[in-house]
Amino acid sequence: MARLLVTGGSGFIGRAVCSLAVDRGHEAVSVSRSGAPETGSDDVEWIAADVFEPAEWRGALDGVEAVVHSIGTAEENEGDGITFERLNGDSAILVGEEAARAGVPAMVFVSASVKPPGVDESYLAAKRRAERALAGHPLRSVVLRPGPVHGADQPHFPEAVDTVFRALDSLPGAAALGDARPLSVETVARAALDAALDPDRAGVIDVETMATRYDVD
Ligand SMILES: NC(=O)c1ccc[n+]([C@@H]2O[C@H](COP(=O)([O-])OP(=O)(O)OC[C@H]3O[C@@H](n4cnc5c(N)ncnc54)[C@H](OP(=O)(O)O)[C@@H]3O)[C@@H](O)[C@H]2O)c1
Repeated sequence: MARLLVTGGSGFIGRAVCSLAVDRGHEAVSVSRSGAPETGSDDVEWIAADVFEPAEWRGALDGVEAVVHSIGTAEENEGDGITFERLNGDSAILVGEEAARAGVPAMVFVSASVKPPGVDESYLAAKRRAERALAGHPLRSVVLRPGPVHGADQPHFPEAVDTVFRALDSLPGAAALGDARPLSVETVARAALDAALDPDRAGVIDVETMATRYDVD
């Protein structure tokens, strides 16, 4: 049994990672400002903390096998300090530094293959900046680069869009969509957990690899 810390564990992807981890008998600790979501499992330890205040959560890194970082945004709100640079870039770099300092062996960064439609290029630039920074850390770092992610309770786009993504993902020719191929949240969670726990995984895991290796639906 391993202990995992999931930053953004109350979000759409982070919650799926926490659920899968506890289903497989691991210990999962989530860090997010809101703490436990309404339907959050009692088997997950929910810490309510701002990731940019590491003193509030670094104690939870004790004994952690891997951190899965699943914080980010597709919408900036500069008044609230929510920028792509900060959320999609700085947060991952900060978490990587904290994890490395605490002697955590591995970090999985949920990045992205493509920017969402209509979103500024700086969304992806910040992710790539964080990827480069993490590659220079002493810990084993794995970068997941999904495109659009579909699943029940997807909070980011209307249900009809989710249905289209699911249909595209299940087409026999879905591979032709390349980096824009949608993946299920369960596929991404399986990839994240495997990347966290397999000492041989490092570097970038792209959409095609996730679809081939972790889409078992
Ligand atoms: N969903 C997709 O289709 C998709 C596709 C490709 C890549 N991605 C990437 O995957 C990652 C996760 O996406 P998602 O869809 O799961 O996002 P999400 O549902 O918005 O979840 C984001 C999580 O981050 C937490 N968070 C935000 N700001 C925080 C802060 N300052 N301190 C602590 N926690 C904070 C949120 O909780 P609180 O608000 O309570 O703090 C939430 O738990 C993102 O980096 C995103 O770019 C997503």
